[in-house]
Amino acid sequence: MAREFDIAPATEAERAAGHIAIRKLWREDLDAVVALDAHATGVAKPDYWSETFKRFVPPTARRCAFAAERDGALVGYVMGEVRSWEFGSPPCGWVFAINVAPEAREAGVGTALLDSARAAFRKAGIKSLRTMVARDATLLLSFFRAEGMTAGPFVELEMPIDPGGSEPRT
Ligand SMILES: CC(C)(COP(=O)(O)OP(=O)(O)OC[C@H]1O[C@@H](n2cnc3c(N)ncnc32)[C@H](O)[C@@H]1OP(=O)(O)O)[C@@H](O)C(=O)NCCC(=O)NCCS
Repeated sequence: MAREFDIAPATEAERAAGHIAIRKLWREDLDAVVALDAHATGVAKPDYWSETFKRFVPPTARRCAFAAERDGALVGYVMGEVRSWEFGSPPCGWVFAINVAPEAREAGVGTALLDSARAAFRKAGIKSLRTMVARDATLLLSFFRAEGMTAGPFVELEMPIDPGGSEPRT
């Protein structure tokens, strides 16, 4: 069955040359997203992604989910949503997941995915983009800085719920 591409699908010649196409995420991408995420973070979260797909695939005006595809295989994804008035923050586009397969990195795929999310937020009338990055995630920090992001106006604070306890970081 023919599927919709947001950005022009690769021609046969481009496929042969390993062209990467950006399109909306499909439900059929779930297993590939679980696998890519598990590879990047070291933790497989099939239940989390299954629930997330229910809310983001297919996307809505305020939720976006894009895939990067090469030779019929998923090599990257980005997901984000408009969040409004959390902690007094005006509506803002949040990117909460971006991931490119190691063999497809450093070729502009992450940039193309982030550009797709930005375009979706722009279409929704949103003026700013936000994300959260672990302090030691130097690759993600380098990437987002290169894309033009800088420190935002909020600071995340946290504490263990019980003395001596803390959540594992993934
Ligand atoms: C961060 C990530 C998305 C970047 O994807 P990518 O396709 O390689 O990015 P791009 O090729 O578009 O790079 C854009 C810019 O980011 C920066 N960048 C990318 N890879 C970099 C690296 N290894 N070192 C330093 N800077 C880097 C560069 O400034 C680059 O611009 P340049 O090519 O002009 O130098 C990818 O490395 C990744 O998925 N990492 C794992 C992320 C992760 O753990 N996700 C799960 C939790 S959300």
